[in-house]
Amino acid sequence: MIKLHDLEFEPFLSEEAIQTEVKRLAETIFEDYQNKKPVFVGVLNGAFMFLSDLMKHYPGDCEVSFMRLQSYEGTESTGKVKSIYGLEELNGKDIILVEDIIDTGNTLVEILSQVQQTKVNSYKIASLFQKPDVYSKDIQLDYIGLEIPNRFIVGYGLDYNGLGRNLPEIYQLKA
Ligand code: IMP
Ligand code: MG
Repeated sequence: MIKLHDLEFEPFLSEEAIQTEVKRLAETIFEDYQNKKPVFVGVLNGAFMFLSDLMKHYPGDCEVSFMRLQSYEGTESTGKVKSIYGLEELNGKDIILVEDIIDTGNTLVEILSQVQQTKVNSYKIASLFQKPDVYSKDIQLDYIGLEIPNRFIVGYGLDYNGLGRNLPEIYQLKA
């Protein structure tokens, strides 16, 4: 059991279980991109560890890039996503958007609305985790590692108020 800020978390997925899943995803993607050189585009910050391991397990040529959402607090303090940096260099490329987790899908909608304004050759979506009970969008998710219950998780890039990203395994909020 671990404590981050005020909350306690219990083990959910081992390092080994994560790596097995990441390797499977990398090989699945490779089958679909035989004659292409995909660009893995990591959505910062949460996806950085998954992105790194996904690329290490990818058995072919590939490139990497990153994007970051910028949210403005504004007067209504909604923290809504307004713009994304780092998309200019992707024109003509086959990109795979790499997310840590897809929850409601709101973040994904914002990302795609911007990606669709670029001249990428193609795009697909990969996420290590998805919470199907919460996901409410029509967007097809191409590569999903694990479907998990609607419980808050940390570790392996995922944080609780900034902490927990460095944990090599996944923990879930204690019930
Ligand atoms: P969405 O916009 O609701 O799909 O949420 C996506 C983002 O919320 C993810 O990229 C994470 O940064 C964060 N998030 C969602 N669920 C969790 C969780 O269980 N643990 C940590 N972060 C989460
Ligand atoms: Mg994220």
